[in-house]
Amino acid sequence: MTKITKAVFPVAGLGSRFLPATKAQPKEMLPIVDQPLIQYAVEEAVEAGITEMIFITGRNKRAIEDHFDKAYELEAELEAAGKDELLRMVRGVIPKQVNCMYIRQPQALGLGHAVLCARPIVGSDPFAVLLADDFMQGERNGPGVMAQMTSAFEREQASLLAVQDVPREHTRQYGIVSTEAFADRLEKVKGIVEKPMPEKAPSTLAVVGRYVLTNRIFGCLEKLGTGAGGEIQLTDGIEALMQYETVLSYRYQGRRFDCGSKLGYLQASVEIGLQHAETGAAFAKWLSNRQSA
Ligand code: G1P
Repeated sequence: MTKITKAVFPVAGLGSRFLPATKAQPKEMLPIVDQPLIQYAVEEAVEAGITEMIFITGRNKRAIEDHFDKAYELEAELEAAGKDELLRMVRGVIPKQVNCMYIRQPQALGLGHAVLCARPIVGSDPFAVLLADDFMQGERNGPGVMAQMTSAFEREQASLLAVQDVPREHTRQYGIVSTEAFADRLEKVKGIVEKPMPEKAPSTLAVVGRYVLTNRIFGCLEKLGTGAGGEIQLTDGIEALMQYETVLSYRYQGRRFDCGSKLGYLQASVEIGLQHAETGAAFAKWLSNRQSA
């Protein structure tokens, strides 16, 4: 039985929806309370048993490498000042068994191209893809979304796309699938199309930023030309993959915040602020007083 040990994080995107905040820093480093988005995504992968983290980076993304590297000066200063709690936090950003690898995507040619850049490291293994601006939370006390997907993969040994229902007027923001029944939470993907207009969308079942893919996707991506928006689309690679093998959609348990949009980012910040051990109680009090004012 093949297990998933590698995850690809495409992080070369420009983050133009968050300018000017993202003029000089990667959008994946925007914090939800006190942790950058990319760290939440890496933690979700670690929880799923993944140990090899492959970041597809680009210009202006050095902060991501620094974040997952050892911070000698900072650690020395925290140690000297006896700030043990903070020191533990800084050292715990990445667990010891986890390796981080970085590949530069020279040009932002699309998500499909970014995934293809990971081929030399991924090799013949199946692998996960996590888009950090889709911030995912499993149900309270339940497994995270990637952990749900890697266990589904271990059972089915088939590529999986996380999906959720969206309002029809939003289909133009997503890859949209048409499916047929397969098993609990899993459906067989019959068709997939990138960002269709609402009147053309085959359904309202949208792909969100979590995938588990077999390595055959690389051969499919390699043959692709540019698709929607002039980019090499992962969606088109998945459509080609379906000619060779079963692709399943997975209705995840939990919640998603679209942190690629300002509204979703604010909603995630409020939710995590309310769940946070340090801020939760005081923030809840402040919010309720504020609403009744
Ligand atoms: C990408 C994919 C799209 C998918 C979405 C999920 O789009 O191309 O198929 O539905 O992520 O967030 P993007 O949001 O990068 O435009």
